[in-house]
Amino acid sequence: MGNWQNMDSLSKRVQAVTPSVTLAVTNQAKALIAQGEEVYGLAGGEPEMDTPNHIKAAAITALQDGKTKYTPAAGIPELREAIAKKLLTENQIEVETKGVCVTSGGKQACFNAILAVVEEGDEVIIPSPYWVSYPEMVRLAGGVPVMIETSAANGWKITAEQFEEAMTPATKMIILNSPGNPTGTIYTEDELKAIGEIASYEDIIIMSDEIYEKLVYGDKKHVSIASISEELSQLSVVVGGFSKAYSMTGWRLGYTATANAAIAQALSKIQGHTTSNATTFAQYGALAALEGPQDFIEDMRQEYDVRRQFVAGRLKSISNISFVEPEGAFYYFVDCTDMGLKSQNLCDKLLNRYKVAMVPGIAFGHDASVRLSYCTTLDVLAEGLSRFEEFCDSH
Ligand SMILES: Cc1ncc(COP(=O)(O)O)c(C=O)c1O
Repeated sequence: MGNWQNMDSLSKRVQAVTPSVTLAVTNQAKALIAQGEEVYGLAGGEPEMDTPNHIKAAAITALQDGKTKYTPAAGIPELREAIAKKLLTENQIEVETKGVCVTSGGKQACFNAILAVVEEGDEVIIPSPYWVSYPEMVRLAGGVPVMIETSAANGWKITAEQFEEAMTPATKMIILNSPGNPTGTIYTEDELKAIGEIASYEDIIIMSDEIYEKLVYGDKKHVSIASISEELSQLSVVVGGFSKAYSMTGWRLGYTATANAAIAQALSKIQGHTTSNATTFAQYGALAALEGPQDFIEDMRQEYDVRRQFVAGRLKSISNISFVEPEGAFYYFVDCTDMGLKSQNLCDKLLNRYKVAMVPGIAFGHDASVRLSYCTTLDVLAEGLSRFEEFCDSH
């Protein structure tokens, strides 16, 4: 029995992964709040607005109507159909209803896609900085994450040439995330075409995480790589969800969509053996989200754009940091190289001394940066940024 008290006796798979730094920051901040401290939370990854009422009402009605049993593994047919229709009309992606699998959040959608494709030892290309969970999911699947470094000078994007150079005979998949977390970067159609051409030539699967598709600012446009050609729609697994678009993070609802019938079947099979299905009555809420009024999204987007510009103004007045203005999502990835601190150390000091929570860049593969979220109120942003400025001035 004693053996099971230490990590070494657990599976190699789980030993290979690290705990989520974003969750650790949240827990640290919660501990300070529990001690009566006021903490300015700029670390979160969820809209602070409530889920719109008509979505809640649909889920409540579903509960009252006895929608409390299992559904097909890939979700209720009406929701899968509504997602396929949305993908066609909004994203110009042609997938059949059976190509859609409703999942317990975008996170499970990503994991299902990786598990369906990646074999022991397969390489998965991930542009860095990356969303924390991608490399760990690849490791859990027995694969090898291969990072491609990007830079602020290049808008935090990989080029087709970098993709080509990173490829080996073991490459199975590339993960794209546009709009991206943590940088807010957006790939243009031409950039996606160039990357897609190489993926097509080498027969590489593309997991395209488009969870932030609705949060796009200025004259930028969200384009899905799966919409570019029939060939790319066959090679792509699109990941989408309800968390960020409809402020439904706690509902745990996302989806995968692909035109590739074999992959679609594999995704439903994995879903069937892991969660069985996403929560039944929650799926009816998601259906109402897609079929009901969409003005909530535009209101939220405009609100975030105001905050994005506010943060840019405040950050510009701090001399020892730099940043690329984000084009999408709700994060700033701030380069703090000039302060000479490792990102974990920087965030610990910022939280403990100035009571401002941000996420260390190391979580996203860049130890000289921190991630600042602007999915919080202008009041919290104003005070949090004043304190951040004070912190920066003292280093
Ligand atoms: C890039 C990215 N993909 C996927 C997810 C997962 O979203 P969900 O809450 O729907 O699981 C997140 C959540 O933060 C994210 O940032």
